[in-house]
Amino acid sequence: MNLPTAQVSSQHLSSQARVVLRAEDVWKSYDDGAISVLKGVNFEAAEGQTVALCGPSGCGKSTLLHLFGGLDSPDRGRVSVNGIEVNRHRNLLRLLRHEVGFVFQLHNLIPDLTLEENCLIPTVAAGVGRRTAQARLNQLAERTGLSHRLGHRIQKLSGGERQRTALCRALMNQPKILLADEPTGSLDEHTSGAVFELLLDTVATEGVTLVMATHDRGLAKRCDRLLEMRDGRIHEPVSA
Ligand SMILES: Nc1ncnc2c1ncn2[C@@H]1O[C@H](COP(=O)(O)OP(=O)(O)O)[C@@H](O)[C@H]1O
Ligand SMILES: [Mg+2]
Repeated sequence: MNLPTAQVSSQHLSSQARVVLRAEDVWKSYDDGAISVLKGVNFEAAEGQTVALCGPSGCGKSTLLHLFGGLDSPDRGRVSVNGIEVNRHRNLLRLLRHEVGFVFQLHNLIPDLTLEENCLIPTVAAGVGRRTAQARLNQLAERTGLSHRLGHRIQKLSGGERQRTALCRALMNQPKILLADEPTGSLDEHTSGAVFELLLDTVATEGVTLVMATHDRGLAKRCDRLLEMRDGRIHEPVSA
């Protein structure tokens, strides 16, 4: 069966919805074109939407998330956040520090530092005052059930606590968009479900747009939209 491509994804946006993340005819290859990964991706996500990006390992999910977050640039095409093209923006770092948060499969926290220290790092980089940052951390830690863990080193925390910490860190600067790359992929099924619930709750409370790569269909179905990545493009089944 041929599914329509996400070029028609605007069907899934209500007429008032503000597009916060957009990819237009995005191409990306590696090794001087020997590995062609993205072949004309078109995508739009509206403010507050939760979007799951599914597809087999190696299909290009991480590549696309990296382009969305400005960690890499497309060979061709445009990626824009809130209408501003990511790879051409002169204040790229500033834009990304405030607009986009990342959660990775392996939490990428610094094991020797405490939960609190890990979460405060992005606020220092963004020039947020200490008192404001601390208040934000307390709020997020409370929401994610980590208040009693603030002073603990990452290496002492469980897998689920580490991913919850990564979620807090990603949201410290109040980004409008959260990019999550297999955020529960390293956890057992029970913990994975619990962390995902918390992730959905938190993005809903904060009005954050979530784009999550996952190969867990059960989790993906809980999102507003489920996209399939295949042959270098995005396909969006027409929802029932
Ligand atoms: N930095 C890189 N250099 C060369 N090839 C890469 C690089 N990053 C990813 N690839 C290749 O691009 C393809 C897509 O990878 P990726 O985006 O990580 O897929 P997914 O996240 O869906 O598993 C894979 O074939 C992978 O080996
Ligand atoms: Mg990946």
